[in-house]
Amino acid sequence: MERSVHFLLLCSIFILNVGADSVVNNPIILSEDNWSNMLEGEWMVEFMAPWCPACRGFTSTWEDFAKSGGAKGISVAVVDVTENPGLSGRFLVTALPTLYHVKDGVFRQYLGGRKEQDLHEFIEEKKWESVDEISWWLAPSTPQMSVVSLFFKAAMGIRAFYNVMTEEYGIPEWGCYLIFALVTIAAGLILGLIIVCCCDLVFPTKYPPRHYQQPGHEGVDGGEESDLIDDTKSPEADGDISQTRQRKPFKPDEQS
Ligand SMILES: *[C@@H]1O[C@H](CO)[C@@H](O)[C@H](O)[C@H]1NC(C)=O
Repeated sequence: MERSVHFLLLCSIFILNVGADSVVNNPIILSEDNWSNMLEGEWMVEFMAPWCPACRGFTSTWEDFAKSGGAKGISVAVVDVTENPGLSGRFLVTALPTLYHVKDGVFRQYLGGRKEQDLHEFIEEKKWESVDEISWWLAPSTPQMSVVSLFFKAAMGIRAFYNVMTEEYGIPEWGCYLIFALVTIAAGLILGLIIVCCCDLVFPTKYPPRHYQQPGHEGVDGGEESDLIDDTKSPEADGDISQTRQRKPFKPDEQS
């Protein structure tokens, strides 16, 4: 009994040690849920995908860099874009691997050499200071990029749905397109309806009774005509009905 407790203790100490080592040595894995960790402190983040050959070739460099990164006080992280499509949208990752330098929430893309030495110089010699920051409207932490991220997630969701339909349910391709077309039209109609209803709630359509301040105009003139008369009438300002009525025939001449 006592032995097994000892054994368990030893095991747990061993596991804890391995766990602590791997945290120090290996690149920190970031995902959709915890990417915002990188907004504090100094980070180097790699966006990669397991299928990308250039990423595989770069893995060992990145792991070595991560090992020494801890000593320099920077965090070295890795994001798998196949598991986190939202992040590839948020960071506008168009090539793999893409490297970002993040310091206190300021993002810069690393475009330097891919040797470990280049990476060390970039940090030690503060070469990142001469790199332009990602402009504020594209910065990954902004709300608009959260929206872009949502679109990327939605796109991946639709793709996954398409795969399930074709592979598991055996629906032919044209059938999928038909379903997508119908869903798109239906969604458009529903969205349109919702927008119209919202507009109607916020700006209710009113049909206010037309009432004219000038006495003597009511019931005589149509709406637009009486407006025009109001303009021409203002210099006279005596509100005489007969005069305004006399002016009416002259109006076409004035306008032409
Ligand atoms: C972030 O989340 C991923 C996936 O859930 C996890 O593997 C990783 O350890 C987390 N990283 C941090 C720094 O919490």
